[in-house]
Amino acid sequence: MVGDRYDDWLKLCGKVVQTGQGVIIEGYCKPLNRWFSINVYCPEKGYMAMIAKDITARRKTEQALRLSEKQYKKLANSIAGPFFALDSCLKFTFWNKSTEKFTGIKSTDVLGKHFFFVFGKNKLSRRFLDIYHDVIRTKHPRAFSGKLPKGDDTFFEIEVYPTGNGISVLARDITERKKIQVSMEKNTKRLEELVRIRTEKLNNAERLVAIGETAGMIGHDIRNPLQSIIGELFLAKATLSEFSETKLAKSLMECVTAIEEQTLYINQIVADLQDFAKPLVPCIIETNLDETIRAVSLPLDVPQNVHISYLSVVPHLVLRTDPLFIKRILSNLIRNGIQAMEINGGELTVSTFLRDNFLIVTVSDTGTGISDEVKEKIFKPLFTTKSKGQGFGLAVVKKLAEALGGNVHFETQVGRGTTFIVELPLSSNAILS
Ligand SMILES: Nc1ncnc2c1ncn2[C@@H]1O[C@H](COP(=O)(O)OP(=O)(O)OP(=O)(O)O)[C@@H](O)[C@H]1O
Ligand SMILES: [Mg+2]
Repeated sequence: MVGDRYDDWLKLCGKVVQTGQGVIIEGYCKPLNRWFSINVYCPEKGYMAMIAKDITARRKTEQALRLSEKQYKKLANSIAGPFFALDSCLKFTFWNKSTEKFTGIKSTDVLGKHFFFVFGKNKLSRRFLDIYHDVIRTKHPRAFSGKLPKGDDTFFEIEVYPTGNGISVLARDITERKKIQVSMEKNTKRLEELVRIRTEKLNNAERLVAIGETAGMIGHDIRNPLQSIIGELFLAKATLSEFSETKLAKSLMECVTAIEEQTLYINQIVADLQDFAKPLVPCIIETNLDETIRAVSLPLDVPQNVHISYLSVVPHLVLRTDPLFIKRILSNLIRNGIQAMEINGGELTVSTFLRDNFLIVTVSDTGTGISDEVKEKIFKPLFTTKSKGQGFGLAVVKKLAEALGGNVHFETQVGRGTTFIVELPLSSNAILS
């Protein structure tokens, strides 16, 4: 109490009597182990009175409150993640140590300050505010994940709770969990892609086995009689040419030519099928490239409005390769080019040039072009967009080019045309003349 000392009491009372001004003091009385509020006043000049009120209970409550507040702060600061609170005026009332760490802002710079003053008016803080209003309105907690409106790239799971006069916010660092989740999603996608590729390979392999079996059967049962028919047709034409002046002979010649056209087409299909099914072993000989290219047999039904031209930067090039392979490659590419210009006509150009020890042969057309949807399928056997197509041509071209150690690719523009590019390595025996 104001001094537990007697002197102090006397001095205080004397002062009240002299000045006439009362005082209220609070103090602890050790012998009684109690707290008192003492009102010392001057009821009449020269007198003093004293009213003492036992306030022990109130002081204990206050003490307990202070203690609990201290413990609460200690507890809140010991939380590993950010934890902060806002009152109903959107002012910060609490900001734990972890929030300081993640935002780089001291609690002393935050407490009593408005939400926007601390977090700014960015997209994240506005989202945060929406949730704040929602929690205040519904009085229901809400949880979401994201970053804090201030700070680094740490990813949190954030829980917002309603409090008596505002909200409290608890955030848990889930960056690692998020990283694992992202990498798991990536892995799952990769696995799905792998499964897709494997399944496709398996399907292709099954398809190839079926093609191989069919080719074997066709080779045995169809190719031989077909060759005989072609031979017979050749003889028939030769015989008919001797009677070319007669009307009957002319008409028969037309029939035989039409039969020959269709038979050659059947022969082509069978040859493609067999080429595709059997392992290809090139027969390498010295080959005059220009002559080989010009000897490629063109389809009999080239439309009148399709113009074919040959461009060679390396005329008279002689190289060691399989001329039959070259012919088969070009005959397929030329046929496709002509078919792509069937309706509107156009220009078909076969070019040859050398680049980086490679012989490049290109076949360009000004036809329909190839749509994105079709692009990725064109080298697959049995893929065709044509009513009379087999879908073997390009699969065979690819196989032939690869058998010569090269490759084939294409550039295309829908409505403008397509260029197929065959790249063949020049053998060390290539002779330039
Ligand atoms: N020059 C081209 N222009 C436009 N599309 C093309 C061209 N070349 C190929 N294609 C597309 O690629 C598909 C596959 O061609 P591919 O030569 O393998 O088979 P096909 O021509 O349909 O039949 P086949 O050659 O067996 O008679 C064609 O159906 C066509 O859609
Ligand atoms: Mg074709």
